[in-house]
Amino acid sequence: MSVFYVTTPIYYPNAPPHIGHAYTTVFADVLARFHRLTGGKVFFLTGNDEHGLKIQRVAEKAGKHPKEYVDEMANLYREYWRILNISYDYFIRTTDPYHEKAVKEAFNYIYGKGLIYKAKYSGMYCVDCEKYYSPGEYTEVEGKPHCPIHNKPLEYLEEETYYFKLSEFKDYLLDVLENRDIVYPSQYAREVASKIRNEGLRDVSVARPVERVWWGIPVPFDDKYVIYVWFDALMNYLSGIGYPNDKEKNTLYWSNAHHIIGKDILWFHTAVWFSMLKALDMPPPRRVIVHSYLINKGLKIGKSAGNVISIEELVERYNGSDGVRYLLSRIFNTDKDSEVSFELLDSIYNTELADTFGNLVRRVGSLALKKMGGKVYKRSIDGNVADVISNSIGTYLDAMRSYEVSKALEHVMNIARYANQYINETKPWEKSNPSKELYTLLELIKVATILLHPFTPMASSKLASAFGFEIENPVNMEPGKTERYTITDAPILFRKIQVKQEG
Ligand code: MSP
Repeated sequence: MSVFYVTTPIYYPNAPPHIGHAYTTVFADVLARFHRLTGGKVFFLTGNDEHGLKIQRVAEKAGKHPKEYVDEMANLYREYWRILNISYDYFIRTTDPYHEKAVKEAFNYIYGKGLIYKAKYSGMYCVDCEKYYSPGEYTEVEGKPHCPIHNKPLEYLEEETYYFKLSEFKDYLLDVLENRDIVYPSQYAREVASKIRNEGLRDVSVARPVERVWWGIPVPFDDKYVIYVWFDALMNYLSGIGYPNDKEKNTLYWSNAHHIIGKDILWFHTAVWFSMLKALDMPPPRRVIVHSYLINKGLKIGKSAGNVISIEELVERYNGSDGVRYLLSRIFNTDKDSEVSFELLDSIYNTELADTFGNLVRRVGSLALKKMGGKVYKRSIDGNVADVISNSIGTYLDAMRSYEVSKALEHVMNIARYANQYINETKPWEKSNPSKELYTLLELIKVATILLHPFTPMASSKLASAFGFEIENPVNMEPGKTERYTITDAPILFRKIQVKQEG
């Protein structure tokens, strides 16, 4: 059985998750569900990144101890993921004791190898990114250094700290980035490699003095310092699968680890993380899958830009989690930023889910009830229909295995479109016994429903039970093999949204 380990970034719980976080998490969930459906042994990890200055400040502002604050937020995040039907296997929190232990062990191990040393840092810092910025990386507004992502003034820091010798890993990183197929799409690997070639690699600070930031994991051999939040956070990918104690679990899942990230955190997940792993004598992950931003009126959607679309709004408008999951997957893009608006989402929802798929299901279900009393037995299906089914499964599987979820959905919609054309041409409503036509249509619907399952698990399961078939592994599916369908209901799966006409 093939193993598939998939992770999302662990999110900063300084605010509730919004459409951007849902975008990443739904994508990871779709991959996890796809691999389960096709017989894989899956471990899906998500969670929260609870330490650091940003959380310390937000808790202070709320008049709460950070632990109390992050406890509440962890419940809130879990609730959002429940609403979106996210099937994670484990929700990790960086304040969990076993995680803290793993981080300390890793810090000690790397220190023991002489790869962590004490020195002075002076330079700029963005608390929203929890990131050090060097000249050339930040923008200037009225002569003052600003964060290029958050567009806010950077803070100047001057402090004694612990450094990780990132510079030692230059050759290793270039080799991994240029010769191994890890970062997907590969343009992101080239981007990081050329930054390293052009600018070289500076050592990075991996601790903060406790009088500046106290909310973190203490440096194990020096309690005047806490470990830098990114060193802490990245380790979740290992502690979440049992590092360092459960070697068996760790080795099993690490061999096929897939990190899903937005392009904002590419540097940390390649240069920094691959070097930390090497220092821990561990191989890099199998894949880092990078996606671009959701933008609104040209700006990255986020709390700082103030252009957030909430998960509640989405779930309410698109009739529950399935609609939202479908839409976020349909606009998924690794390459170009995607401009989102309700206008765009409404039109995809209405055309694809309501008109093309939903309407087909309703029509065929109603006809089967009316004409056949709900019982449709196996009949031979035409060669070209069988070809459409087999080819669609093949192209869908290829797309899913190369993370092209939007393309995979297009293949599913092609099946539904073909079925709509077939029904219009064969006119089963005019026949007294349209069993062949209905059996053919049900075969097409069954395949589409199963292929949709990772995206719309509730609607797919509901339909499978209304039409009397099982959600089975699509890899083994062959057209024309279902013995019979027992239709008990013709559900409206995706109710159309009434779009107000302008003008
Ligand atoms: N805590 C760090 C990650 C540590 S992982 C070891 C962090 N957290 S975050 O809360 O800021 O989440 C960033 C991630 O949220 C992005 O990488 C991306 O996956 C997702 N997104 C947030 N806003 C987004 C968009 N507007 N568009 C696309 N993805 C977005 O960084």
